[in-house]
Amino acid sequence: MPAVRDVPPTRGCFVAFEGGDGAGKSTQSALLGAWLREGGREVVLTREPGGTPVGMAIRDVLLHGEHVAPRAEALLFAADRAHHVATVVRPALERGAVVLTDRYMDSSVAYQGVARSLAREDVRGLSLWATEGLLPDLTVVLDVTSGEGRTRRGHVHDRLEREDDGFHDRVRQGFLDLAAADPGRYLVLDATAPAQQIHAAVRERFGLLADEAAV
Ligand code: TYD
Repeated sequence: MPAVRDVPPTRGCFVAFEGGDGAGKSTQSALLGAWLREGGREVVLTREPGGTPVGMAIRDVLLHGEHVAPRAEALLFAADRAHHVATVVRPALERGAVVLTDRYMDSSVAYQGVARSLAREDVRGLSLWATEGLLPDLTVVLDVTSGEGRTRRGHVHDRLEREDDGFHDRVRQGFLDLAAADPGRYLVLDATAPAQQIHAAVRERFGLLADEAAV
């Protein structure tokens, strides 16, 4: 298995938005994307699962089908990710684009590793293998409690959203633990703050990242 960053670094910038269901990730990635485009950057807005046609088929099986065994679920999310990185994310980073993804490997660690109780290091290892070690330059965690997430999701429930509050509490703790273990790569924000306030904090952090890396 290649070590993280064995694959040559890319020229672009890779940002992941993570958090529980109903945290507002897609709103925030769209706001950051619009701001960067105004500044003249090429931006690729994408998501997991389902950022590619193959991924859409996998997404359907994962979210709208029958029961999937936990290890099969972990492998399907990793398969979606492998194809997404190989065909969308890496090519975009190699041409210098900013890639903003709505969910990435931390979702697998939090949902399958922590909440489904598969070993988190195994789940992370699977994603590192799938992506040849590609980690985001920055991960924004939009922190939401299980109760707030449920209220914000409304009544549309996919297979994972239907899990109980205990499951979503474990997901939340999974994200917070990942962020605490590597604070330099993470920005944790309260998802209940006004969207424009969250966006301002994301912009500020992205600016620091861009200064450091001259991306
Ligand atoms: P998503 O489309 O982001 O749903 P939402 O917009 O409601 O947040 O993700 C679909 C579901 O898939 C979500 O419940 C989280 C789950 N998921 C995992 O369990 N593991 C993963 O690796 C990923 C990427 C998502």
